[in-house]
Amino acid sequence: MTHVCLDDLERAARDVLSGENWDFLAGGSGAEASLAANRAALERIFVIPRVLRELTGGTVEAELLGGHAALPAVVAPVAYQRLFHPEGELAAARAARDAGVPYTICTLSSVPLEEIAAVGGRPWFQLYWLRDEKRSLDLVRRAEDAGCEAIVFTVDVPWMGRRLRDMRNGFALPDSVIAANFDAGEAAHRRTRGQSAVADHTAREFAPATWESVEAVRAHTDLPVVLKGILAVEDASRAVDAGAAGIVVSNHGGRQLDGAVPGIEMLGEIAAALSGWEGEVLLDGGIRSGGDILKAIALGASGVLVGRPAMWGLAAGGEDGVRQVLDLLTVEFRNALGLAGCGSVDAARRLGTRVARHG
Ligand SMILES: Cc1cc2nc3c(=O)[nH]c(=O)nc-3n(C[C@H](O)[C@H](O)[C@H](O)COP(=O)(O)O)c2cc1C
Repeated sequence: MTHVCLDDLERAARDVLSGENWDFLAGGSGAEASLAANRAALERIFVIPRVLRELTGGTVEAELLGGHAALPAVVAPVAYQRLFHPEGELAAARAARDAGVPYTICTLSSVPLEEIAAVGGRPWFQLYWLRDEKRSLDLVRRAEDAGCEAIVFTVDVPWMGRRLRDMRNGFALPDSVIAANFDAGEAAHRRTRGQSAVADHTAREFAPATWESVEAVRAHTDLPVVLKGILAVEDASRAVDAGAAGIVVSNHGGRQLDGAVPGIEMLGEIAAALSGWEGEVLLDGGIRSGGDILKAIALGASGVLVGRPAMWGLAAGGEDGVRQVLDLLTVEFRNALGLAGCGSVDAARRLGTRVARHG
């Protein structure tokens, strides 16, 4: 079966994953209003293409956090990737390396972070704040020692959102999938009716982070620190004051506050408030095509994170499947950029957009 767009890989992934693993991947929190709104918001945005401009020598390459990326995209942190394929994070990281895009290793990875970083490419490390500050900072140090190029500090998870699909499924990790970066005990594996064991486990392990936690991380590492999960303009400005090297404008793929605004709705305002800032303004939530990447860039993002689609590729075809997803995004973004009359990612930042009034 040929896959000509990411939706084709979504169907393929759904066919191979168990119902509860599919729900863990696809689901959001509450009534999934924010999850649905991420797509709906992107679908309402239209780009105003330019014409008759020089396109020879055009490129889709970008610089992200001072390093080269083959396109302005990053594989988002997604926990427990061995749920989706036996090779899990290793397969996904290899595909990202070969496609030339950064790969974000999770605090909750199912392969130890050092093994994933050893794949090479451009690994970033996503941090959840643990109850014990020392253990959180140990993770940061391990990531730095392993060669990670950035710390992506997730700031929108004081605790995990209520993921109703997982609760209904009594979701728990199988014995073969573990939180490989720390001794997590049994909690994530214990099946309880009406509860998510993964949520239960994180409730025991995580503590709500504060701006002091951000300062502690910054003081502990020379790596650039990116704050993931910003939606308020005030928080974006505060992130800059706190010395962040970047932010990810995100509602966590609709998995935290149900009713949280889609990142794409806030992006323009946040990018305008931070204009002149050298840091990265990244966007995630609902990016499903190269055309979506173009919309994010036009609204002021320097790049995007891609979550679920990378995992569709992983489930459908392991390393090759993730590679297919990233290749499709590259081809689609190149096509969209050129058809919009832009020879570079920078040129796309000057494109106009309109929000559809109908529908
Ligand atoms: C199954 C799953 C697990 C996730 N795990 C994490 C995580 O451990 N840390 C984190 O910061 N974000 C996590 N996210 C959120 C993603 O990094 C990202 O913000 C979101 O998936 C982007 O939306 P998209 O899936 O529509 O691309 C997870 C998302 C999914 C779907």
